[in-house]
Amino acid sequence: MNRIMPRSGIMDIAPYQGGAARVAGVEDAVKLSSNENPFGPSPRAIEAMRDLAPQSHRYPSSDHAPLRAALGAAHGLEPGRIICGAGSDEIISLLCRAYAGPGDEVLFTEHGFSMYRISAQAVGARPVEVTERERVTDVDALLAGCTPRTRLVFIANPNNPTGTMIGEEEVARLAEGIPAQALLVLDGAYAEYVEGFDGGASLVSGRGNVVMTRSFSKLYGLGGLRIGWAYAPEAVIDVLNRLRGPFNVSSVALAAAQAALADVEYTEHCRAENARWRGWLSEALAEIGVPSDESRANFILARFGSRAEAEACDLHLQSRGLIVRRVAGYGLPAALRITIGDESACRRIAVAIREFRETGGEWSA
Ligand SMILES: Cc1ncc(COP(=O)(O)O)c(C=O)c1O
Repeated sequence: MNRIMPRSGIMDIAPYQGGAARVAGVEDAVKLSSNENPFGPSPRAIEAMRDLAPQSHRYPSSDHAPLRAALGAAHGLEPGRIICGAGSDEIISLLCRAYAGPGDEVLFTEHGFSMYRISAQAVGARPVEVTERERVTDVDALLAGCTPRTRLVFIANPNNPTGTMIGEEEVARLAEGIPAQALLVLDGAYAEYVEGFDGGASLVSGRGNVVMTRSFSKLYGLGGLRIGWAYAPEAVIDVLNRLRGPFNVSSVALAAAQAALADVEYTEHCRAENARWRGWLSEALAEIGVPSDESRANFILARFGSRAEAEACDLHLQSRGLIVRRVAGYGLPAALRITIGDESACRRIAVAIREFRETGGEWSA
């Protein structure tokens, strides 16, 4: 028998659960469980992928300079303070590897994105969860949760899976109040869905202790390619560049992301459709007694009377070929997270939940 063991703490990690993609026996199921763009990538991004496919034997650029320049121009940021990763997940993981380890604490909120906990545990740091106020990030609770061991504070704004967000002044108060040895990470995976919101970039520019992460997986519809980026102080970029793999982002992903970024008309269309159907769906559900908080992202968190009711509704939706996300693992057992699909998907969800409410009997247990 060998004695090969992983580092202590690794086996305590509960592996990330992705959204289900299939329902047994249903051919044309609609996947509304992973906050993907229902319209897919921009046609310009698809063309860029096709153009690059024959060059796939070549290694990609290792400094990602063309994409960083394009991101800098699109968002008014310094390209030298941008880093690209295999999804923003990779950047979250790099931040934990760089700034936290055994004896350190990584803070996030009660219903925060699960990769904060996993990435903290992966480096042997202690994950620390602080309460939210009615499913909204609570800056006072985060500040009260900081200790001399806190190295990283993660918030997603808008947050997943609640869809809620806090204002710029609150974020600035958090950046100002955290201890000197801590870095604030503003996860902007859904920032593009908020009209006129810079994701916290201006705060990064004005301070040395804030990082903003962004994703091409949501509004840009490139989740399958794995590409994200971050804007950070130069010193942080220098640290992360020492840790990341030299070819961490594929050439196809780099080219597709650049083309997607340039297709402003397409992203505006996707943003507008999302806002329209998000409003429509949350109202339609509220009318039948299924409330949700005002979401600023591409999903809503539908709240039911109990865990039993949420689970029964999920089974009913599955029977109709509609796959949504259970969020008990996020401390929200009585809720279901529903990605905003296209018009037809939203109408099907509303009809199916109405049917469930009308025929599902008493679920107030
Ligand atoms: C809040 C949040 N941050 C980060 C990510 C990771 O996104 P990416 O696909 O860029 O790794 C997600 C994905 O669902 C998310 O919801």
